[in-house]
Amino acid sequence: MEEAFMQRTVTCGQLRKGDAGKTVVLNGWVHRNRNHGALHFINLRDRYGITQVVVDDDAQKELQDVASGLKNEYCIAVKGLVRERPDEMVNKDMPTGEVEVKAENIEILSKCQILPFQIEDETNAKEDLRLKYRFLDLRSKGMQDRIRLRHMVIKAIREYFYQTDFYEIETPTLVKSTPEGARDFLVPSRIYPGKFFALPQSPQLYKQILMVSGFDKYFQIARCYRDEDPRGDRQLEFTQLDVEMSYVKRDDVLGLMEDLFGYVFKKVVGVELEKHFKRIAYNDAMEKYGSDKPDLRFDLEIQDATEIASESDFQHFKDILSNGGFVRCIVAPKNEIKEYTRKYLAELEESAKIYGADALYYAKVENGTLQGGLAKFFKGKEADVIGKTNAKDGDVILFVSSMNWKKCLTSLGSVRNKLGEDLKLKKDTFAFCWIIDFPLFEYNEDEGHWEAAHHMFSMPQAEYIDTLEEDPGRVKGDLYDLVLNGYELASGSIRIHDVELQKRVFRICNFSDEEAEKRFGFLLDCFRYGAPPHGGIAPGIDRLCMILAGKDSIREVIAFPKNTQAMSPMDECPSEVEGKQLEELGIEVKKKDE
Ligand code: AMO
Repeated sequence: MEEAFMQRTVTCGQLRKGDAGKTVVLNGWVHRNRNHGALHFINLRDRYGITQVVVDDDAQKELQDVASGLKNEYCIAVKGLVRERPDEMVNKDMPTGEVEVKAENIEILSKCQILPFQIEDETNAKEDLRLKYRFLDLRSKGMQDRIRLRHMVIKAIREYFYQTDFYEIETPTLVKSTPEGARDFLVPSRIYPGKFFALPQSPQLYKQILMVSGFDKYFQIARCYRDEDPRGDRQLEFTQLDVEMSYVKRDDVLGLMEDLFGYVFKKVVGVELEKHFKRIAYNDAMEKYGSDKPDLRFDLEIQDATEIASESDFQHFKDILSNGGFVRCIVAPKNEIKEYTRKYLAELEESAKIYGADALYYAKVENGTLQGGLAKFFKGKEADVIGKTNAKDGDVILFVSSMNWKKCLTSLGSVRNKLGEDLKLKKDTFAFCWIIDFPLFEYNEDEGHWEAAHHMFSMPQAEYIDTLEEDPGRVKGDLYDLVLNGYELASGSIRIHDVELQKRVFRICNFSDEEAEKRFGFLLDCFRYGAPPHGGIAPGIDRLCMILAGKDSIREVIAFPKNTQAMSPMDECPSEVEGKQLEELGIEVKKKDE
């Protein structure tokens, strides 16, 4: 027989003035228990809210004793009468603040040991402690709100796709290991010793195959796995909204996403987004913001300093330029928060060096002329420099030079981001933009060959198709990223659907025809059977929820994330396994010192 307990008739977030006079049962956790002599105020909490329970001083001793013994996070049931609080006791900050429940009976359903940290709205416990006791951490209001937000996001996404005639189709999570960018997680096969499945880095190939199979509007909330080092916006396992469509061109995919995000933001946070998001070509994004994921919550654009630098007396700039290098600058504005002291300029320089700059040069604008740093090299040309950069008194012009275009710009991009943060330049808004016209290939210096900048299945833009091999570095792809507040939120592309073209791209990426058949034969095969033109995209759900929650770590919006060391402190995985399990799989583990 089941053990009987007083089962709730209402939740802890439900009671209002109009409920006064009712007898109810509440179930929940003791959030706080305050005594005033024989009078007890117990804040009882569940997912829905907090209700104040009172044990009056005229209650029976038995009830008083139970109340005195209640510790935080005991799980209890309370039966009692709802009554209005006296006017002076009304708590306007609580939805249930006009009432309280006068306890008649309290049943302890489950006791709680000494807590590793208190359950606050937002705890300040160390993250690893929070993750070890995630079951407790998740009880906090902050985590409850964020998990709810995530639920609402996923619900709204599904609503949108169901309304627009997409099919939700699951794809396997034991898949063939294929190079997709990151390292695969491998799963050994017991039945075929020595062979392995991989966990999917994304459903990319399956969604393309679904197009060949005729499911021309597909989506999936898909788990993806990548064996990379975790970061604030990166986990080993994460969730994508995966989308693919047949017979579409780039603008159809972008339009669908704008419509989807419009729906989700309205529904979840009540924010009306602009109908279309700004589009920026990759080259322009790099030149203006030093990043392919620019934070557009603030302006502060990078400027081309070639002319100023070539007219200066600074030999280093002249050498760089005459050898085909680059000089760019950014004007750090006068502000009330940060003074451009030597120390702060050194901090800015550090942030540039992370991206490969060898130095951050500066000149301060004071009384309509230049001071300090490079000022002496601009003798007689101060007004020209100030005019061209549009700098004002109190501003500082910051320069980076490099032989490498990307290093030059990303270094200044990093300075730009630091200024945005430190000077509090960011507007409280959702700044979306599309980055388009990406290069299709990137040169891998370490391995000495070209590789796909996104993945190998993206379509080159039409004008480059005939001459791909001549100069792969010039080729632009039909690919696009969606950026929100400086984060890459989604990536996608129009795909190749032609065997020969796909093989050419594989060859440029250093896969021989033989190797390509071995690895991707199944995809090439399906392109031989009437593959429709198709394209798609995949927004990261964790990043989306993180931004909506105003956090800077996706761990804050994932119920059970891995920590920064790529493990889970709660269940202590990854963990060793029994010798017998390994034997069955035909696997021998090399000890570290062997
Ligand atoms: P991509 O690899 O760019 O594209 O991933 C798409 C989006 O997924 C999110 N994301 C991550 N989120 C958390 N942790 C990670 N480790 C992580 N890696 C990626 C990001 C990113 O923008 N198959 C292609 C999509 C396509 O072409 O349709 C793909 O996976 O938000």
